[in-house]
Amino acid sequence: MTARLLPGGPVAEAVLADLGPRIEALVAAGHRPGLGTILVGDDSASAGYIRMKMEKATALGLTSPHVHLPQDATQADLLAVVREFNAAGDVDAVLIQHPTPPQIDFDAALLELDPDKDVDGLHPVNMGRLALGMPGPVPCTPAGIEALLAHHEIPVSGRNVVILGRGTTLGRPLALLLSQKRPTANAAVTVVHTGVPDWPEYTRRADVVIAAVGVPGILRPEHLTPGVTVVGGGVRYEGKRLLPDVDESCGEVAGAITPRVGGVGPTTIAMLFRNAVEAAERRAA
Ligand SMILES: NC(=O)c1ccc[n+]([C@@H]2O[C@H](COP(=O)([O-])OP(=O)(O)OC[C@H]3O[C@@H](n4cnc5c(N)ncnc54)[C@H](OP(=O)(O)O)[C@@H]3O)[C@@H](O)[C@H]2O)c1
Repeated sequence: MTARLLPGGPVAEAVLADLGPRIEALVAAGHRPGLGTILVGDDSASAGYIRMKMEKATALGLTSPHVHLPQDATQADLLAVVREFNAAGDVDAVLIQHPTPPQIDFDAALLELDPDKDVDGLHPVNMGRLALGMPGPVPCTPAGIEALLAHHEIPVSGRNVVILGRGTTLGRPLALLLSQKRPTANAAVTVVHTGVPDWPEYTRRADVVIAAVGVPGILRPEHLTPGVTVVGGGVRYEGKRLLPDVDESCGEVAGAITPRVGGVGPTTIAMLFRNAVEAAERRAA
């Protein structure tokens, strides 16, 4: 590995450090931020993620009311909880943990959620706000990637950024974000996917390549130009084993690269809390 590593930990710490005084100010004004979480079913990985987010919420001074619905919960059960959280005065932001069991229509539940409490920024109203450059919660992983690049002083403004993958949680909102007219964005963004079989032609010309696919090892050194910055967003889990999109050998060609573990993940969590605190600030105002 010759590339400079771009860890997400320090980025997350900086984001959370900025939130500390803002949470204190809200609490002092009588408005303790609340992050509601909903878990449907028995998926142990999802239960672990929720537990970790609730512990983090408590550590930061947020309340974290939680509802765990059984594996055989109906869509009506879930919608009832979403409506309850929508109406709750002490809940500013809501997370519906994905994936949900097969009988649940996740998108319909998301549509039921009050867009101003949508901590993941994935509600169509918030995707619309992102497309229009209006304020609102930005999807956490894309926001984390922008912050990660800015923190490590990797310029994207005016540079050729290629995103591999156009999924709704990562590639597509990231393209919207990095093409906005702001100093930490302003990039010439190209999005490639299965409809572009010669996508390596694009990644080989990029200044920054962001993998957002979920196919282990899809990005390899022969797809890169020496010195390029590589950000690994896509991962697949096989049991507890994490399999990233970016093959480890990319570190021999890249100039800078996110680590296999501790890259984009910590920044995603930090952005979740930033969205929750901003939702509380909007409601308190
Ligand atoms: N680190 C984090 O905190 C975090 C958070 C969110 C998501 N993720 C990860 O990010 C990845 C993307 O998430 P998502 O929800 O956006 O996924 P998604 O909706 O499944 O999108 C995957 C994208 O990859 C493209 N793709 C798949 N196989 C390809 C191939 N062989 N060649 C070129 N393109 C290919 C797909 O192309 P088509 O559109 O043509 O099918 C699609 O656009 C997943 O691995 C997810 O786990 C990580």
